[in-house]
Amino acid sequence: MASITVPISNTSSNEPILDNGQGVIDPDVYFQINEPPADLPEFESKLNAFVDYHKELGSKVVFITSGGTTVPLENQTVRFIDNFSNGTRGATSAEYFLEAGYAVVFMHRQNSIQPYNRHYTHSNMGFLDYLEPKEDGSVQVLTQYAAKMHKLLTKYNQAKDTNRILMLDFVTLPEYLFKLQSGSKVLARLETRAMYYLAAAVSDFFIPSQKMAEHKIQSRDGGLTLTLDQVPKFLKPLVSNWAAKGLIVSFKLETDNNLLVPKARQALTRYGHQVVIGNMLKTRKQTVTLITQHREKVLSLTPQQVENDIEIESEIIPELVRIHQNWIDSGKTE
Ligand code: PMT
Repeated sequence: MASITVPISNTSSNEPILDNGQGVIDPDVYFQINEPPADLPEFESKLNAFVDYHKELGSKVVFITSGGTTVPLENQTVRFIDNFSNGTRGATSAEYFLEAGYAVVFMHRQNSIQPYNRHYTHSNMGFLDYLEPKEDGSVQVLTQYAAKMHKLLTKYNQAKDTNRILMLDFVTLPEYLFKLQSGSKVLARLETRAMYYLAAAVSDFFIPSQKMAEHKIQSRDGGLTLTLDQVPKFLKPLVSNWAAKGLIVSFKLETDNNLLVPKARQALTRYGHQVVIGNMLKTRKQTVTLITQHREKVLSLTPQQVENDIEIESEIIPELVRIHQNWIDSGKTE
């Protein structure tokens, strides 16, 4: 399986890679042939401290993954493949989980949308458009924006001051996968009180580092043809080993409506976890289908709600909080 048509002398090695006979490597093999991120020990130590703190308090903790992973094309990366996800789902959900009393681990793509800050960093207005300079040298928020900003700032500071939000980040696919594995194992100490809310858009294809160009791919070599290997499905070990007792919520994104529910249900059967949230690329902000073993529930906003800036996460999160409580109380979702 050649990965990339670049001069062979430019690749780091031609070592064969173990696979399952169908061209997809085992998740364990993935971790053997890829380097862990340099900041993994720091990631683990922050998360351990957060989990210890909340285990002591008896908090419910949600591990949110948010935003898209990049797939590097060169070991010394200049170019990479990305995807559309900007992290709105994860960041918005984090706010509603905090409102519901959860502690939140927000593992997000670096520079993607963040809870509370999202209202200002990703609006049509620039940050400075909310402010006015005063003659005494100070800066003031313009009156028409002050009430909303005061409310959000208060909630944001409360979450930080009470140690109820931990911000952790990733950029590349291997970084995400190593941190997902390690993070899930740390959270597993909370047993059923942990929820895993896997909203990140994770690449399904990658170039193993052994097959990757070491240096910047040169345009003088002509056009570029890429062959990507398939990323193993990490939901499988996550459900069976890393986070066996927690409530696991995965997402299914589709563009063909006919495939949405069958594929979401297939994922639930294949991996044996508790909830799949199906969403369509074009309507994901207005409607989702929440699928559990015995139920399918469509959550939708009315046009009026959309006009009034009601967010679909205000319906998703209370539903999940209810399911999670059942899970804690009885080991069942309903
Ligand atoms: O960020 P936004 O712009 O707001 O968009 C939000 C969203 C549309 C990205 C989000 O709502 C969503 O649907 N996220 C999941 C998208 C996705 O990757 O779907 P998938 O069908 O490729 O993967 C399904 C599940 O399998 C995911 O929960 C993922 O955690 C898991 N997976 C995926 C790839 C892989 N190699 N291993 C996995 O375990």
